[in-house]
Amino acid sequence: MSGRAEEVLREIEEAARRKYLPIIGPLRGKALAKIIAQLKPKRFLEVGTLIGYSAILMGKNLECDAEIITIEIDKKEAEIARKNIEKAEIKPKIQVIVGDASDVIPKLHGKFDLIFLDGHKGDYLKHLKMAEEKLHKGSVVVADNAGAYAYSMRDYLDYVRNSGQYKSRVIRLGEDGLEVSIKL
Ligand SMILES: C[S@@+](CC[C@H](N)C(=O)[O-])C[C@H]1O[C@@H](n2cnc3c(N)ncnc32)[C@H](O)[C@@H]1O
Repeated sequence: MSGRAEEVLREIEEAARRKYLPIIGPLRGKALAKIIAQLKPKRFLEVGTLIGYSAILMGKNLECDAEIITIEIDKKEAEIARKNIEKAEIKPKIQVIVGDASDVIPKLHGKFDLIFLDGHKGDYLKHLKMAEEKLHKGSVVVADNAGAYAYSMRDYLDYVRNSGQYKSRVIRLGEDGLEVSIKL
């Protein structure tokens, strides 16, 4: 693991405290990193880069053969994310795409082993359905804020829990949680 990655993560956590940035943070971040360590995805997609915290967190223990595509609608945040990712010196190739995930996802090719949804909560279901054809049996979809924002993402939670397409459960962490859904 890159020591630089840990330093950059601590710097972002400090900046997030000062500027109230909505990063996943250390508590849910630890659970996300554990999922990544178990699954070792080779190719994954993130919606909602912000300044790169979760992308670095997910990529820090992976090797050069892993590829992360992360989408951010705000150009300025994406620029900061690119700088943070470069500074973190992690091994996987991380591509930060600036744009609305609704426009970007349909243009992406290939399959994803994991998707991390962390954009606007009301768009989770739309983004999942757009990406669904790019999942394979066993792909994992992780949705942030499944505790504190469960109401805002209720259509999404209903879909992953009751459509019969996923095996899904919430991991509760403090006041919030991660919804982890495995494609059947
Ligand atoms: C909660 S923050 C992401 C935090 C980041 N994943 C982390 O933990 O470090 C949400 C981000 O999603 C971005 N966003 C919101 N809607 C989006 C969309 N439709 N497409 C791409 N990015 C979007 C916002 O600009 C914001 O930076």
